[in-house]
Amino acid sequence: TQRVFSGIQPSGGLTLGNYLGAIKRFVEMQGQGIETIYCMVDMHAITVWQDPEALKRQTRELAAGYLAAGLDPSKSILFNQSQVSAHAELGWVFNCVARMGWMNRMTQWKDKTSGKDAEKSSLGLFAYPSLMAADILVYHATHVPVGEDQKQHVELTRDIAAKFNHDYKVDFFPITNPVIEGSATRVMSLRDGTKKMSKSDPSDASRINLTDEADTIAKKIKKAKTDAEPLPDSFDALEGRAEAKNLVNIYAALSGMTKDAVLGEFAGQGFGAFKPRLADLAVASLAPISTEMSRLMQDPAEIDRILGEGADKADAIARPILEKTYDIVGMVRSR
Ligand code: TYM
Repeated sequence: TQRVFSGIQPSGGLTLGNYLGAIKRFVEMQGQGIETIYCMVDMHAITVWQDPEALKRQTRELAAGYLAAGLDPSKSILFNQSQVSAHAELGWVFNCVARMGWMNRMTQWKDKTSGKDAEKSSLGLFAYPSLMAADILVYHATHVPVGEDQKQHVELTRDIAAKFNHDYKVDFFPITNPVIEGSATRVMSLRDGTKKMSKSDPSDASRINLTDEADTIAKKIKKAKTDAEPLPDSFDALEGRAEAKNLVNIYAALSGMTKDAVLGEFAGQGFGAFKPRLADLAVASLAPISTEMSRLMQDPAEIDRILGEGADKADAIARPILEKTYDIVGMVRSR
């Protein structure tokens, strides 16, 4: 049987990258007869400093974003990670299965510590991928929809599952598949087509936030870095034009069109014609989500209720898998 799990860190506002690379895909996978479990990974967020009040607000805002984008608590399990302690417990077991060398090879770890003193990073930041493996495997999840940047972490999850199964001579944890599909698996910065769009980029103009006003979205797209060439009639002909590719990918993902169909519509035209159309499309897609998010944020108690209910459902799946793990590992369980 198939089971979908994915998560997002409540470490700041949501970007267009999170929306197209993750949330929109989460919604598409919901209600297909497969169990879908979506988490707000607050325990991952604190691997770097988070102001406690801001973390609470951002967790509820992320929940509001999930709901506003179309995730439905009657079809998907929605909860925040820290309310289901099995994640942290299995994470510890995996800290003892995974090897330091595996963590050292993670490009996200290398990026986050490059130019800085890695000795001053939290131990949690180093072990981050091991907790992520626990998030996934504590549900025996088989499919994990993520953006391109999380591929290596999902591959590490496979390695951890395989080593556990091998060391304990069991066939217990499934080998999970990353699901990285669509036109927007790696949305790039609007200011630099070689950098990923990210909530932590110091330049706000580099990204579209889900909470941006319509005129801000339009302004950011108008100012987005491009080149002076007209658009060609096929995506292959965009080779070497990173910024142009990125905007076409965003258009395709927002409209549900193929990239070549988008270019079929704009071939021969320049960005002066393309950008206003992209801005209209982005505003039309995102404004209803942001309006709904603000409405939901008026009632944080209702959000907390949904997260609590989701945590109960998640716990009911995770707890027996954790208990079985403890048994396999050799822990005495006598109460
Ligand atoms: P996070 O919070 O950085 O990002 C959440 C999701 O958004 C995707 N994403 C993007 N997709 C396309 N273009 C972009 N520019 C872009 N930026 C972000 C990410 O790939 C991700 O899917 N480690 C994870 C959170 C996590 C998790 C998990 C995910 C913890 N446990 C278990 C899956 C399963 C993270 O930091 O994502």
